[in-house]
Amino acid sequence: MSNNLNLDGCDLVKLALKYGTPLYVFSQGMIERRCREIKEQFLNRHEGSHAYYASKAFLTLAMCQIIEKEGLGLDVVSGGELHLALKASFPAERIVLHGNNKLRQEIEMAVESGVGRIVVDWEGEIDIIDEVSKIKGQKTPILLRVTPEVKAMTHKYIQTGHRGSKFGIPLERIPYVVKKTISLSNVELKGFHFHLGSQIDDYRTYLEAVDVITKLMSDLREGLGYTTEELDIGGGFGIGNGEGSLTKPISYFTDPAMERIKARCLTFGLPLPSVAIEPGRWITGEAGITLYTVGAIKEIPGSCTYVSVDGGMADNIRPALYGARYRAEVANKMGRDKDKIVTVAGRCCESGDILIEDLPVPGDIEPGDILAVFNTGAYSYSMASNYNMLPKPAVVFVDKGEDILVVERETYDDLVVKQRGIRSALRV
Ligand SMILES: Cc1ncc(COP(=O)(O)O)c(C=O)c1O
Repeated sequence: MSNNLNLDGCDLVKLALKYGTPLYVFSQGMIERRCREIKEQFLNRHEGSHAYYASKAFLTLAMCQIIEKEGLGLDVVSGGELHLALKASFPAERIVLHGNNKLRQEIEMAVESGVGRIVVDWEGEIDIIDEVSKIKGQKTPILLRVTPEVKAMTHKYIQTGHRGSKFGIPLERIPYVVKKTISLSNVELKGFHFHLGSQIDDYRTYLEAVDVITKLMSDLREGLGYTTEELDIGGGFGIGNGEGSLTKPISYFTDPAMERIKARCLTFGLPLPSVAIEPGRWITGEAGITLYTVGAIKEIPGSCTYVSVDGGMADNIRPALYGARYRAEVANKMGRDKDKIVTVAGRCCESGDILIEDLPVPGDIEPGDILAVFNTGAYSYSMASNYNMLPKPAVVFVDKGEDILVVERETYDDLVVKQRGIRSALRV
């Protein structure tokens, strides 16, 4: 019996040898279990509710097919994400299009493919949607994204609902925008959306925003006779760090939010809107592990010991971008005493390319060991770059002892496939 780290019956050291490193490995079972929890604890308990997986967290054709099979919808934020979803034969009517600066071409694509909802992020966008829909002879259902002026307790780079946020329509503009929107013939205003930020771990943040939005809904009904049919409360449901804090069930967030929505609607005499959520990280974050091979090890007396791996900020920008913290294990040396503290460095030419600080590891860590970094399933692969001309890693799904390759590793040739030398450059 091997002492190697295992995920869903697959030996991760063997996977590293089979596919090479860096390698993103995902537990398909965990993704499916998260989707089922959303179905059981939210969708089945609240009539008319919807859950759209925020695909920016992690998107591949295979991932889309899992979300489709599990019966959830999809939140996309660009023409590229929409294209991929349609390529995966994801039903357009279960797609919601976001974006704080959608291109006209993206709006055309969305209207043409018949996406379920477009979430409007600024006033001028409504005219474009109306015009495009008129040309296509359609009426497009939209939501208005409201900035509820609620500051989530999370890193400032991932706060989105505070006053001054680049996302959403300022609260005080909403009555004007609603009045204008309901007078248009080719858009249908279904309701409102807010998204407060990411990695939120306190349900009360959602309640603050619900209070703001339900008051707005009441004012609009009184002032304009407009009744809100739908309310999308966004995503941002946090996950644990794998050490002290554990991931909370989805109901930890959604039960109090639903209770508050119901209570406020009762107080204001409003009909209950159908409610939607957009979880991203909560579905895939913990399902992903990144495997690296250890290379250079530098012991710097009086400073620290650097353990360098064959990836870094190009496959996981989050530690460098906003100080995200990760836990890791030496996958081929499980169960040994961890009597050494190291700094895990990436291989990019940036001093800031540090993946983990102060990581306890076995004292005999050496080049060739396989380091497994946990909880990398969200915003790692989707934010990956080719900095330093590093090819993007492969993605493997594991399930009940079987592994499948869902994204091939990029090759050096892939990196130059769109380039031309000075003599073969195109004059366009
Ligand atoms: C509009 C919207 N919905 C949902 C999400 C998903 O957030 P998370 O992955 O934290 O759940 C995001 C993330 O940025 C978002 O912008």
